[in-house]
Amino acid sequence: MAKRLLILGADGHARAVADVAAECGWTVAGFTERQAGPKGPDVLGDDSQVADLIRVGKADAAIVGVGNTALGRRVELFEILRKADAVIPSLVHPRAIVSRSCAIGDGAVVFPGVVLGAGVKVGENAVIYSNAVAEHDCRIAAHAYLSPGVILCGAVTVESGAFLGAGAVVLPGVTVGKNVRVAAGAVVLGNIQPGGRTAR
Ligand SMILES: CC(C)(COP(=O)(O)OP(=O)(O)OC[C@H]1O[C@@H](n2cnc3c(N)ncnc32)[C@H](O)[C@@H]1OP(=O)(O)O)[C@@H](O)C(=O)NCCC(=O)NCCS
Repeated sequence: MAKRLLILGADGHARAVADVAAECGWTVAGFTERQAGPKGPDVLGDDSQVADLIRVGKADAAIVGVGNTALGRRVELFEILRKADAVIPSLVHPRAIVSRSCAIGDGAVVFPGVVLGAGVKVGENAVIYSNAVAEHDCRIAAHAYLSPGVILCGAVTVESGAFLGAGAVVLPGVTVGKNVRVAAGAVVLGNIQPGGRTAR
């Protein structure tokens, strides 16, 4: 029987993660929301109830499903999962192309069409959206978020919690610092200090 996955979050990104999970052979047990309120039939409880939901056997594993509208909350939810001692799988869509020499951390989600080259490291709870490319030796740290179509040339470092908007291009060897925000379509020529952002 397929294992059941609980997804923390219930909006668009959560539904997209559910889609990848199904392609990876998981049964989606349901979703959680931040606070009590009107719930869909597949919303099993609040984020705070994750440990209980796993303990009573509603799910075998859990993953963060909140998207880029709440980047800080993504980190908090991952910590809730760690504290709950949950099994946190990584999800790699079967139509992503991932080098055998890649390492993918717990809770990372890799969408269809992504290409990850030789030696690429993806940290825990990172998101690599559709058709993003990370060429050889890139390091994508925990909680980083690559939007659709991002291109990281070789040996780029994306530090923890950084957000790269759709179609951004990062030149070889550049470091995008912790919690940096890169605009959609930006071309990043040099290092960006932690907490910074591109002009456009
Ligand atoms: C860069 C970004 C974070 C700026 O957001 P913001 O601070 O709210 O900025 P605003 O929308 O107020 O725009 C400010 C100015 O920058 C321009 N601008 C905004 N984003 C831009 C972009 N990506 N490229 C070029 N110009 C941009 C706006 O047109 C506006 O110009 P103006 O002052 O001449 O009118 C945002 O526009 C962006 O690119 N987000 C990424 C979205 C994305 O890729 N999401 C993927 C989800 S999977």
